[in-house]
Parts: sequence; structure tokens; C-alpha cells
Amino acid sequence: MIKFLTTTAVLALAVGGLGVSARAADVKEVQMLHWWTSGGEAAALNVLKQDLSKEGYAWKDVPVAGGGGDAAMTALKAMVAAGNYPTASQMLGYTVLDYAQAGVMGDLTETAKKEGWDKAVPQALQKFSVYNGKWVAVPVNVHSVNWLWINKAVMDKIGGKQPKTFDDLIALLDKAKAAGVVPLALGGQNWQEATMFDSIVMSTGGPEFYKKAFNDLDEASLKSDTMKKSFDNLAKIVKYVDPNFSGRDWNLATAMVIKGDALVQVMGDWAKGEFVAAKKTPDKDYLCYRFPGTEGSVIYNSDMFGMFNVPADRKAAQGALAAATLSKSFQSAFNVVKGSVPARTDVPDTAFDACGKKGMADLKAANADGKLVGSLAQGYGAAPAIANAYKDVVSKFVHGQIKTSDEAVKQLVQAIDDAR
Ligand code: GAL
Repeated sequence: MIKFLTTTAVLALAVGGLGVSARAADVKEVQMLHWWTSGGEAAALNVLKQDLSKEGYAWKDVPVAGGGGDAAMTALKAMVAAGNYPTASQMLGYTVLDYAQAGVMGDLTETAKKEGWDKAVPQALQKFSVYNGKWVAVPVNVHSVNWLWINKAVMDKIGGKQPKTFDDLIALLDKAKAAGVVPLALGGQNWQEATMFDSIVMSTGGPEFYKKAFNDLDEASLKSDTMKKSFDNLAKIVKYVDPNFSGRDWNLATAMVIKGDALVQVMGDWAKGEFVAAKKTPDKDYLCYRFPGTEGSVIYNSDMFGMFNVPADRKAAQGALAAATLSKSFQSAFNVVKGSVPARTDVPDTAFDACGKKGMADLKAANADGKLVGSLAQGYGAAPAIANAYKDVVSKFVHGQIKTSDEAVKQLVQAIDDAR
């Protein structure tokens, strides 16, 4: 739980609460904190900026670079502690609940009723956007992490075909290596490594195992042989990165695949936003496959705009932002560019490319089959402290500070226990 209701914050709330009669004219501006600074992300955000500008709202951008959002969340914490609430902030699952519990979020329930969000937004997302019966956040999209992004020309050159099992994937990486291409494009940052490990765990143990270990935090699953085998598989796959991978940003890893300097990236479908921005076409320039062994399952996250309890004269702008974000037309236009899929179930897939159509169909099927699970690396498996413990252990293993799978399992169990 986050504690930061300082005197300043309480004062700001009190002033904000003075009510309609005391306030000056509504502020026609939204202030948005986010970590969407790559080419594809910025292009997607532009769709929203333009929609709001048509409604007469100015955009005050608060970008904090750093994929996965750790830096952005540190900045947000400082702003909120100072009583300086943005209109909204990009947030992932359990972080929304933390802020809601701390009592600093606004209440969008009226807008939600007017717009019919209850019926349109899947329950898996409402679990995080509704707190104590009140809408406190608005989901922008649904991303999923269990994807491979492959350069088609390189694939053709090495005579590769879609890997159906983890061993197939290793064989494919070997082919690329033999042809002198970097097999695996990865950025050695903890959140990227853990995002890839999410897929490996699902592939190694299946969706039920993933859910028990990384959503229910079941101790027996966390310390199981299957978890050990998952670390063995992680050790196998990281052998295929290039020597410069440490610290590389995720979008630079995507660029390696786009340019044909690398064969494949294992990444959430925000990577597809980079292919879209580079004007690349699925099946012609690149291939999107589910991580082998995870077909039929979706490990998801969703970008939410957490709505803060801003002063009364900023609430109209906040309501407009919320309504625009969940409008059907925006959900299509934005997600086509972002690489994600709509956060509403009633948006047609017409405007989406082949990968987007597959993403939408997969989400629907996984949801119906009980194979839709929250990503631990991406804030939808457990509370932020636990996700951070997870990212830390995975990263130490990748970078050789933890030497064996046995030791990695032990440290994972310990770190998660400490963070509970
Ligand atoms: C994720 C977020 C995506 C994408 C990615 C890389 O956490 O959900 O929208 O932005 O980080 O920055």
C-alpha cells in the first residue's frame, strides 16, 4: 500500500472539494503522465492528443521514458506525495489498486454509467479499473506478452519455419546463428527479461501452472521442478543474444528485427507498434507467432489511465479524457497504431492487420477457455513489490549473479515471500 497523503495533498484535496460555486472556469487541459516515448508509442498517443484537441482540450505531456514504466511510477509517486496530481497517469493493474486504496483516485462512475462501460469492458479489466464499486481508471488497450516477432526475409534466408515447441525455437535460433545473424534481439533490462520469462514459464508449465505460480503465488508451484525447468529454458535461450544486449531499450531490440540485424524478439505486442511505425506489413515483412507452447493462451496486461482526484475545475477535462479513451472509434484507431487490441468487446476488427486480428481472436478464445492470465512482469499477476522481486531475480539469473536454476528458484521463493 502506498502512503503519501501529505499535508499538501490533503490541502489540495480540500481546496478541490470547495465545490462548483467556488471554482473559476473549467481548465481546458489534461495533464498526462506516461512512458510512451518510442516511435510507435508516441504515434499511438498522438491519436488521443488529436481527439482531445478536436474537443478543445490542450495536452500537457509528462513523459517519463523507460519501458515497463518503473521510472514513470517513481516520478508519479513523487508528484502525488507533493499533492501535485496529474489529470491521469498510465498505470498497470495492481498499481491502480494501490493508489485507489491510498484514497487519491477520482470517481468516474457517472461517466461510466452514461457510456455503458460495465457491459463493454471485460471483467478481467474491471477487476483493476473499478475499486469499491467506483470507476477509478480507464483501460486503453489489452496487450499480450507471449509473442515472437520475426524478420521474414531472415526467416526465408535461413529456411526457418514456425516453431511449435520450445526445442523447435532453440533449433531455429541455431540456424540463425549458423547464418551469422543475431538470433535473439533482447534488451538486458530486468522488465524485458522478466517479460520474456513470463512466456517461457507458460510454455514450460502451461496456463494452469502459470496462474498458480504467478497469479495465486502458490508456494508449491513457485518451488517446483517445473519452475526449475523454466529457468533451465531461460538459460538456454539467453545464449542467443548479442554481446551488447545489456541495458538496451526494448524498441532498439525491435529495430534490430525490423532491419534484419536479428531474427526474433520475444516481446509484448507494443513491439508491433514499432513495425507499424516503420510501415512494415505482417506476413510480408514480419511474422507474429505465439511463443511456442503457449498457443491458445494469452498472458495479458492493459494500460490503464488512472484518474486522480483532481480539483473540481479539472474534472470536466478528466471526464472528457475518460470518455474519449473508451469510445469505440478511438479504441480501434489507437490500438491499430499501438499494436494492442481494444479494451472493449464490441469493437470490430475491420481496421486491424493480420496480427491484430489474431490478437483479438486469441483474447476472445483465451477468455472463454479460462486461459487468459495476468502477466506478472507487467503488473497483472501480483502487487508491485512482488513483481519487482520477480524481475530482480530473473535479471540476476540472466546476468550471471545467480548461477544455477536451483539457486534461482530458491531466491525467487524467498524474494516473493519477503515482498508478500
Ligand atoms: C508496457 C506497456 C506498453 C508499452 C511497454 C513498453 O508496460 O503496457 O504499453 O508501452 O511497456 O514501453
